[in-house]
Amino acid sequence: MEQPATRSVEELEQYLALVHAAGLDAPWSRPGPLIESKKTRVQSCVWRWAEIEPLLKRSADFIAPGKGTERRILRLANPGVPERTSTHTLSVAVQYLLPGEVAPVHRHSPNALRFMMRGQGAYTTVDGDKCLMKPGDLVLTPTPMMHGHGNEGSEPVIWFDGLDSPIVRYLEVLTQERQPADRQPIGVGARPQRLIHYRWQTAYAALLQLAELEANPFDDVLMEYVDPATGRSLFPTMACYVQMVRPGVHTRAHRQTSSAVYHVVRGAGCTVVDGVRHEWKEGDFFIIPPFARHEHANEGTDPAILFSLQDVPLLTALGLYREEE
Ligand SMILES: [Fe+2]
Ligand SMILES: [Fe+2]
Repeated sequence: MEQPATRSVEELEQYLALVHAAGLDAPWSRPGPLIESKKTRVQSCVWRWAEIEPLLKRSADFIAPGKGTERRILRLANPGVPERTSTHTLSVAVQYLLPGEVAPVHRHSPNALRFMMRGQGAYTTVDGDKCLMKPGDLVLTPTPMMHGHGNEGSEPVIWFDGLDSPIVRYLEVLTQERQPADRQPIGVGARPQRLIHYRWQTAYAALLQLAELEANPFDDVLMEYVDPATGRSLFPTMACYVQMVRPGVHTRAHRQTSSAVYHVVRGAGCTVVDGVRHEWKEGDFFIIPPFARHEHANEGTDPAILFSLQDVPLLTALGLYREEE
């Protein structure tokens, strides 16, 4: 750093010591621009269902919900995120519940959702309302609704939860509270004032219908889940999409300032992220980091169906959402 000739280095050091002692910082005393660009640490990666499923099932040997843990989950931990969440804003975990098990009722400041993957008989209670979850169903637990889970079926059930907890933690407003009773009484809460249960049957039928009408050059057939009362994204922080990449389609590449966690509901394909090709198939998960160039392809003969969770509404609200080809 250059300083006026009338002041010596010693004088500057003495001055800076006084600045620091006063609880102040003089950023100009360090080299480099005042506001430095920061490259994302979020990495593009794939989690294989073939690896997740056996490890998830084995976790039942060690832990049970309500007995030492609230949820039997395995989180998708991005190696680039120090907090071991899936992206810097999104946390996704796969949850496993055996027949007859109940995951305790709680509520928290992060918004959450779950997408049902395997098994019949699972339910989520949301403020006293009981939603039976069939594979492909999406159930929302917006903050601060009380919610719990159970499995009334005869086989284990698996779903994944998605939360905006990393951003809530960053904002220093992360709170959680457990309801004393193990089960949430059904039908005694104020019924949720908004749609919280999006059935797969309805979503998939709408996707098939959309496929007849239009396609998007970057995502092929893409449909966002919205709140029917407002027409807006499901949460102020997170948006959910279901999309179909039809056989033979290779989308055009684009990049967005948002990040995304993708789940392969059905079929197989590949996504090229910043030049790296990631193959995926049913049950797998993959990440698109912020502003990473990406394109999807389906080289098979059957349609590929993807569900994704993206922080687009958060970036939009901050005036930071951008998309470029
Ligand atoms: Fe929860
Ligand atoms: Fe995209």
